[in-house]
Amino acid sequence: MANSEALVPPQHIAIIMDGNGRWAKQRGLPRTAGHAAGAESFRRIANYCRTLGVKYLTVYAFSTENWKRSQDEIAGIMRLLRRYLEEALRDMEKNRVCFRFFGDLTRLSPQLQKLCLDAQSRSQDYDVQVNFCLNYGGRDEIVHAARAFATEVAQGKRKPEELTEGLFENFLYSAGVPDPELVIRPSGEKRTSNFLLWQSAYSEYVFMNVLWPDFTPEHLDEAIAEYHRRNRRFGGT
Ligand code: FPP
Repeated sequence: MANSEALVPPQHIAIIMDGNGRWAKQRGLPRTAGHAAGAESFRRIANYCRTLGVKYLTVYAFSTENWKRSQDEIAGIMRLLRRYLEEALRDMEKNRVCFRFFGDLTRLSPQLQKLCLDAQSRSQDYDVQVNFCLNYGGRDEIVHAARAFATEVAQGKRKPEELTEGLFENFLYSAGVPDPELVIRPSGEKRTSNFLLWQSAYSEYVFMNVLWPDFTPEHLDEAIAEYHRRNRRFGGT
């Protein structure tokens, strides 16, 4: 158990799981070994979030830009996701994790798509909801939502002037999920990298100098403590 500063966690934490490649390089290992260690880190942090009472955990598992990586690396990440979801489906009642997927899943293998759909449909309102961003990009999500709204306008179901921020949110992959209060990016990089562009408009970003495979519950406590030190004004005074 980590320190007690994390007593009141945000209800929604989002994480860019960055630094797997560098972690592997430092050890002379292939990049896929870094992703395997990253998947272990994810398991550890998802469990810890459940212990803390965090309701939503959103993780960037594969971006729309990650297709530029080698076939080998892509296949390695997909294999890890498949393995994780197979396990999750097997241990659904024990782990009490509910799943959602943000992103265009149609580019994934039929087998992985089926696992995602099964995991989503068999999940209930368990203790913690994990949102996997898979083939996800924030700009792509906004374009996808705009297209869906425009389709309804073209079909005569809606009028353009009906569109509000609240209505638009219903067309995002994250429909129904509250915005993250805290977004964490480990690995020392200080960019948003197309992650939750709409949803993080008022999120507190915490950038940390630790590679994702080395990220521990103590690092999460540290990020939550930093979040509590910030003064959130939402554009007010
Ligand atoms: C970014 O680090 C990480 C990714 C693109 C992949 C993240 C995927 C996982 C952690 C495994 C997914 C599986 C589960 C079960 C969660 P990077 O490779 O860009 O690192 P670098 O910047 O050091 O090269």
